[in-house]
Amino acid sequence: MAIVGGSRSKVLVIGATGRFGQELVKASLAAGHPTYALVREPTFSLADASLLLRSFSASGVTLLKGSLQDFPSLLEALKQVDVVVCAVPSSQVLEQKLLIRAIKHAGRIERFIPSEFGADPDKVQTLEMDYDFYKKKAEIRRCIEKEGIPHTYISCNFFQRYLLPSLVQPGLKTPPIDKVTIFGSGNVQAVFVKESDVATFTICAIDDTRTLNKVLYLRPSGNVYSQNELTEIWEVKTGKKLEKIHVTEEQLLKSIHETPFPSNMDLFFIYSAFQSKLAARNLRGQIHKKQLDICRY
Ligand SMILES: NC(=O)c1ccc[n+]([C@@H]2O[C@H](COP(=O)([O-])OP(=O)(O)OC[C@H]3O[C@@H](n4cnc5c(N)ncnc54)[C@H](OP(=O)(O)O)[C@@H]3O)[C@@H](O)[C@H]2O)c1
Repeated sequence: MAIVGGSRSKVLVIGATGRFGQELVKASLAAGHPTYALVREPTFSLADASLLLRSFSASGVTLLKGSLQDFPSLLEALKQVDVVVCAVPSSQVLEQKLLIRAIKHAGRIERFIPSEFGADPDKVQTLEMDYDFYKKKAEIRRCIEKEGIPHTYISCNFFQRYLLPSLVQPGLKTPPIDKVTIFGSGNVQAVFVKESDVATFTICAIDDTRTLNKVLYLRPSGNVYSQNELTEIWEVKTGKKLEKIHVTEEQLLKSIHETPFPSNMDLFFIYSAFQSKLAARNLRGQIHKKQLDICRY
C-alpha cells in the first residue's frame, strides 16, 4: 500500500487542467489523497484555466508552478509527493523523458503512472499505420523500466467521450439521425470506459500492491459493445431504424491512406478496433471476463 506514515499518499497530477487530468484530480481528492497539480506558468493567466485552478485550490489542491521541460521545477514538485500520475496529451508523451530522469534523480517516488490511458502499446497491432502513436508510449515504458521506477500502466481502450457519442461515425459528435456507417461486419466489440471511472480505477491502483509494475486492464463487462449492438440500442431508444451503409476493409484502408494526418487517426482507431483481422487480434488481447482484470505484463 502506498500509505505513508499512516496517512494517504500524496499524489501529483501533471496535466491537471486537461480533460482527463481534471478527472484524476477529482478522483484523487475523492479518495482523500493530498493532491498536487503541476501547472505551467502561462496557464494561470488563461481565463478558463484560472477559474478551474481557483476551484482546485478551493477543494484543497496544492498548485505548483512547473512544466515537463523544466527540470528544477520537476525536482521541486517531486520532493513533496509520493505518487505521480501524468495526463499530458498523446502528442507529448515523449516529453515525459525529462520527468523520468527527475523521478530517478529524486529517488523517492513510490509509483509513477505515465500518460497512456488507451490500448496496450506493447500488444496493439497497428500495421505501422499509427504514425508511431503506440511506439512512443512503448518507448516511455522502456525508459521507466530501464530506470527501475515503480510504475503501473493503465490500459482502458476507448474513453466514452471518444467515438461512442457518435455511434462510431467519424466527424460526428452526436448519433446519426438517418444513416449509420458500419465498419466491416459490425460485430467486433470494443471497450468504452467513462473517463471518471478510468480516473477512479487509476487512483485505486496507486494504493494496490497487485498493480505494482504491471498493466492494469479496465474491461468492465457492461462496457463492451459492437457497432451493431450500439446501433440497435439507439434504434430502440429513438424508435427509428437507421439505414446501414457498410464499409469494407479495403474502403476504410483507402480512406486512411487518402486522409491527411492527423485527421485520419480516427479512421485508424476505428480500423484497429472494429474492422479486419487486426481488430479481432487486438480484441483477444483486450477483453477479459472479469470486471477488473489485473494482468501480468
Ligand atoms: N482512450 C481514449 O479514448 C483517449 C482519448 C483521449 C485522450 N486519451 C489519453 O488521455 C490522456 C490525456 O489526454 P487529454 O486529451 O485529456 O489531454 P488534454 O486535454 O490535451 O490535456 C493536456 C494537459 O497537459 C498539460 N501539459 C501539456 N504540456 C505540458 C507540459 N510541457 N508540462 C506540463 N503540463 C503540460 C496541459 O497543461 P496546460 O493547461 O498548461 O496547457 C493540460 O493540462 C493521454 O494519455 C491520452 O492519450 C485517451
